[in-house]
Amino acid sequence: MKLSWLKHYNLLIFDEIDSTNSEAIRLAKSCVYGDFIIIAQKQTAGRGRQGKQWSSDEGNVYFSVLLDRNIETEKQPELSFVSALSLYDTIKFFADKNNIAIDIALKWPNDVLIDGKKISGILIESLSFLGRNYVVIGVGVNTKLTPPNISQPVTSLVDAGIYILDDTMVLSQFVKNFDKYFKKWQKYGFEIIRRIWESRAYKLNQNITVTSCDQKFFGQFLGVDDKGNLKLKLEDGSVVNLLAGEL
Ligand code: BTN
Repeated sequence: MKLSWLKHYNLLIFDEIDSTNSEAIRLAKSCVYGDFIIIAQKQTAGRGRQGKQWSSDEGNVYFSVLLDRNIETEKQPELSFVSALSLYDTIKFFADKNNIAIDIALKWPNDVLIDGKKISGILIESLSFLGRNYVVIGVGVNTKLTPPNISQPVTSLVDAGIYILDDTMVLSQFVKNFDKYFKKWQKYGFEIIRRIWESRAYKLNQNITVTSCDQKFFGQFLGVDDKGNLKLKLEDGSVVNLLAGEL
């Protein structure tokens, strides 16, 4: 396996930790320089989006990338899409390697679905400390276990017939893809990322219901705008751009 991606990142490996995102935030608050990757075999307090818990028993993949790249605050939401594309390519790589033909799609803003079921999630957090802007990209992939008691359909790579010999390969593929899309984003801006994301989007042009700020919106999913907000055409023909929410 080519490990040249390792050169750039400081790597921290834990058997068990509360949350790799929390560890990344602690590192940033201790004023570290440079990018870090934190990977753990299990988490005791894994966190998901919108304050949800992320089931983190030993068997699946949990890691965070801490970026010390001084990314402007208003551009940080775009990284959600850069990360989603990186994860999409990672899952596709392993599906192809296993000769498995499956439907992989990106659910706004950054879930990866296999045949409509969630396989992976991303939690992006950011903080400024002593004049430095840090971004944390936390990734969980259901490689072997399908988490119980989840309110939406979930699956695992094994359930989909995809077997990975060494789970750290998920991390190395993700980082390789992330470096590729990050460079593209820096060179050409968000528009190209937005367009690729839309070409892989779940339910694009179809009718969906989105819950945002405790309100339910129903309409046709038109894609995302230049800030990454979801564009929804309501039944009265008007278009709303939603900053956050759940499909
Ligand atoms: C989601 O709700 O879909 C996002 C889930 C993100 C989970 C990962 S696992 C590694 C990292 N550490 C955490 O506590 N959360 C993220």
